[in-house]
Amino acid sequence: MSAPVHTVEEAVQAALATVDDPEIRRPITDLGMVRSALVGDDGVVRVELLLTVAGCPLREKLRSDITAAVGAVPGVTGVEIEFGVMSPEQRQELQSKLRGGGATEEPVIPFAQPGSRTRVYAVASGKGGVGKSSVTVNLAAALAARGLSVGVVDADIYGHSVPRMLGADGRPTRVEDMIMPPQSHGVKVISIGMFTAGNAAVVWRGPMLHRALQQFLADVYWGELDVLLLDLPPGTGDVAISLAQLLPNAEILVVTTPQAAAAEVAERAGAISLQTHQRVVGVIENMSWLELPDGTRMEVFGAGGGAAVAESLTRTIGAEVPLLGQVPLDTRVREAGDAGNPIVLAEPESPAAQALGRVADRLAVRRESLLGKPLGLKPAGR
Ligand SMILES: Nc1ncnc2c1ncn2[C@@H]1O[C@H](COP(=O)(O)OP(=O)(O)OP(=O)(O)O)[C@@H](O)[C@H]1O
Ligand SMILES: [Mg+2]
Repeated sequence: MSAPVHTVEEAVQAALATVDDPEIRRPITDLGMVRSALVGDDGVVRVELLLTVAGCPLREKLRSDITAAVGAVPGVTGVEIEFGVMSPEQRQELQSKLRGGGATEEPVIPFAQPGSRTRVYAVASGKGGVGKSSVTVNLAAALAARGLSVGVVDADIYGHSVPRMLGADGRPTRVEDMIMPPQSHGVKVISIGMFTAGNAAVVWRGPMLHRALQQFLADVYWGELDVLLLDLPPGTGDVAISLAQLLPNAEILVVTTPQAAAAEVAERAGAISLQTHQRVVGVIENMSWLELPDGTRMEVFGAGGGAAVAESLTRTIGAEVPLLGQVPLDTRVREAGDAGNPIVLAEPESPAAQALGRVADRLAVRRESLLGKPLGLKPAGR
């Protein structure tokens, strides 16, 4: 090859270094995404680009940015881009590179790693008291009863309801730097409230809250989990946003009551996923009706809230959001929760337990592969 071609190659490399990955916001050359860039005798540059995940939605943006940058290099007559996908090892390397770049070492959250096979469900609601914690503990117990390895994070700073509802009131223990979660009914449980108790609420906001959640999620030793359920505080506050950043692969499970007003706020909680790019796995309507002794159903909180939320989210998100189930009112739901023995275990034949069990069946799917899953990285500078 002659000398001028070599110069063009250098100029092409320099041009590629000006292109940032739109998500990570660092040069694609730094991120190990450019596998090769060859300048042909005809002046056509062939770039082989490794995407962090297959089906990367930003692929076309990368294509146009690279074409513009490289196409502007004198001597280049055309740009051809071939897309490949990083291997899990390459992604891992990329992550540690991003982590190592900063002054402090980032705590590693196992569920956000590219190799993680844990399905993470964040149970969210627009308003309080709709039965989010009850649904969470019952799904957890039902999934564990199906032989899955299950963990629950009570992400409500003020609430200890989840450990109590599961009868896991033991204190977490510390081994070296790891926190060992108490276990009950085959479910490992940890409550953020166990670690923040006694601190003024104002302390746990914004960046500090974010750091605390990150450390917490990194320090708890869960072992290999099939499913991790997060009971979020009601609404769309700091915790929900932080968790979305820390666990971008979490799928959102929206809980609502049949009431129109509750449904409206539940919708807002679900629609947050548009900003966080999280999948909404479905809607659960709780307190749907009360079965009277004569067998008729009394619709204490009205009707249709769950279906309305599911339809509305399907429309706004543009992907099917199913109504996963309707759980009737039953005093035994509360009694079982108060006794630390979820109704799916205490009264498995009751209609409420049956409804919760059917939802668990639909969620009891192992994560098959990473393809199409977010990488779990925050954009730099946040
Ligand atoms: N299907 C049901 N039938 C009867 N009682 C229920 C049902 N679901 C929940 N409850 C009861 O309603 C109350 C509120 O439920 P829960 O604590 O699960 O709601 P939550 O959404 O987690 O509330 P918070 O916003 O305070 O965290 C509890 O006393 C619980 O036992
Ligand atoms: Mg709760």
